[in-house]
Amino acid sequence: MQTKKPISDVYSNWSQLQEHAKEWQNRTLKQAFEADTNRASRYTVAAAGLELDYSKNHIDDTTLSLLLSLAEQADLKNAIKKLLRGDHVNNTEDRPALHTALRFSGEAKTDEQREVAPVLDKMAGLIERVHSGAWTGFSGKKITDVVNIGIGGSDLGPRMVTKALTPFHTGDVNVHFVANIDGAEIFDLCQSLDAESTLWLVASKSFSTLETLQNALTARSWMLDKGCPEADLGKHFVAISSKVDKAVEFGIDEENIFPMWDWVGGRYSLWSAIGMPIAFAVGMENFNKLRQGAAALDDHFAEAPLERNIPVLMGLIMFWYSNGLGADNQAVLPYANHLQLLPAYLQQLEMESNGKSVNKQGERLGYQTGSVVWGTEGTNGQHSFHQLLHQGTVLTPIDFIAPLKAHHPLAHQQKYLVANCIAQSQALMTGRDLEASKAELRAQGVNESEIDLLAEHKVHPGNNPSNTIVMEQLSPETLGALIAAYEHKVFTLGVLWNINSFDQWGVELGKLLGTHVATAIDTTDIPSDWDSSTQKLVKRFIEANN
Ligand code: F6P
Repeated sequence: MQTKKPISDVYSNWSQLQEHAKEWQNRTLKQAFEADTNRASRYTVAAAGLELDYSKNHIDDTTLSLLLSLAEQADLKNAIKKLLRGDHVNNTEDRPALHTALRFSGEAKTDEQREVAPVLDKMAGLIERVHSGAWTGFSGKKITDVVNIGIGGSDLGPRMVTKALTPFHTGDVNVHFVANIDGAEIFDLCQSLDAESTLWLVASKSFSTLETLQNALTARSWMLDKGCPEADLGKHFVAISSKVDKAVEFGIDEENIFPMWDWVGGRYSLWSAIGMPIAFAVGMENFNKLRQGAAALDDHFAEAPLERNIPVLMGLIMFWYSNGLGADNQAVLPYANHLQLLPAYLQQLEMESNGKSVNKQGERLGYQTGSVVWGTEGTNGQHSFHQLLHQGTVLTPIDFIAPLKAHHPLAHQQKYLVANCIAQSQALMTGRDLEASKAELRAQGVNESEIDLLAEHKVHPGNNPSNTIVMEQLSPETLGALIAAYEHKVFTLGVLWNINSFDQWGVELGKLLGTHVATAIDTTDIPSDWDSSTQKLVKRFIEANN
C-alpha cells in the first residue's frame, strides 16, 4: 500500500499548530471578544468594495502568525506571482491558469489580452445587434429569448451572475439556461419559447460534453420542427468553445463561434465569451463592470501583504479549520435572494478545484484537502438547517455574505434580512449556556421540575465560527470582486495543500462508465462481470422503459 504523505512532512512547524489547536479546544470566541474590545476592527480587512470581518473565527495573533509561517513555507507570495504572470501552474495539463487575463480593461498588453480583446469586441457587436433588433430570426422577427446550453463551468457562473444582477437586467431579451441532460429541462422551457425569436448559445469549452451536445441537437431538431429552414439555422445558433473546428462540424456558422482558450479553466471562464448570457441580460457595459470589479480584487490579491489580503486570509482560515480543527465542510450563506445560486457556483469552484488526494508531484496525500461546500440564501436557511448549526455536533465554518443596501424599496424587509444575518453570526458565536436557559424558562414562568427537563435542550453551545463579508450593495463591480476573492481563496488553499487546483481528472471515470451503461441499455447486453447492483439497476431501467 502506497504510503500517504503526512502534513507534518510538508510543514516543519506542524506540531506547533497541533499544540495551538489544542489550546483552542479550551477557549471560546466569547472569551476572545471579552479579552479584546478591538477584536472586530483588528480582524476586518476592506478592499475592492468588500469588507471581510474574520473576527468570529478560532484565531488570534498566534494563530495567524503560525498560518502565515505556513504560507511562507509554501512560498505563497511567489505562487501568486507565477499564477498572475501565466506560469504553467496547471502542471498536469501543462497550462497557465490565466482567468485574470480575461478581466483586463484598457489597452491589451499581453498575448492573452490581445487574444481576448477582439472576442470581447465581437461579443459587444452581437449583443448590440440582438438588442437593437438588427439580428433577426428565420421569419424576420427580433430575438426575444436567448438560451444558454452548457453545464458546469459553462453554466453555473453565467447562471449565478445573471440571477445575481437581476436589478441590472436591460429587458431587451429574456435569458434562460439549459444544462441537464434530463430532457425535462429543455422540454419544459421550449413550451414557453417562440422558435422564430429564440437564439441558442451552445457553450462548451471542449465541445464534447454529452449533456451540452444532446441538448444542442434537441434544440436544433426543435427549430426545424417549428419551421426553421435548415439554411436559416445559422440565425439561431451561436457557439462558445475552445474547439472551433468541432463547433463548425456541429453545423454552427464560423462567424458565430466565439473562441475561448486552454489557459482558462471551465470553472474560471465566466469572464470570457462564456459570460455571454450575462451580457445579453445586463448589457456589455455592466458585463465589463463585473470584469473590472474582479480586476480590482486581482490587484489587491497581487499587492496586499498576506496578513491584510482578503483571499489569502479566507484561504488560511479555511486551511486552519480543515487541517487544524477537523472541519470537513463549509457553508456559504448569502443574505441576498439574488445570490441564491452562489453556493452552487462555489461548489464547483471549490470542490472541483480542490477535491484532490494527490499532490502536484503525484504523491498520495495523508491529509485533508478540499471540503464540502454547501449553503442556501438567508433567511431561508434559518428555517431549514440552522438548528444543526446551532445545536448539532458538526463543525461548520460559515461565510455570511451581506449586501447592506437593497435595490428594492422595501427598506423594512432589508433591515430584517441583514439584522438576521448579523444575529445568526452572533448567536452561533455567543450561544446561550445552561444558566441563561434556566433563567429564560423561569422568566416565562415555567416550574422548576419542567426547567430541569427542558433547560439542557435549550442550551446553544455557541463557539461556532464564521466570516462575514459585507458590501455596500450588490453590483457588477462588487459581485466581480466577490467571485474573484473566492477564486483566489481556492488558489491559496491549493498552494497550501500543494495540489493542482486547475485540473479535474476525477470527472472522467463516471462519464466513461455512463457511456457503457447507455450502450448496455441500447443493446440489452449487460456485461456479466458487472457487479450485481449495476446489472440489476440496468435491467430495471430496461423493464420500466419497454
Ligand atoms: O465537470 C467536468 C467539466 O469538464 C467541467 O470542468 C466543465 O466546466 C464542464 O465539465 C463543462 O465542460 P465544457 O465547457 O467543455 O462543456
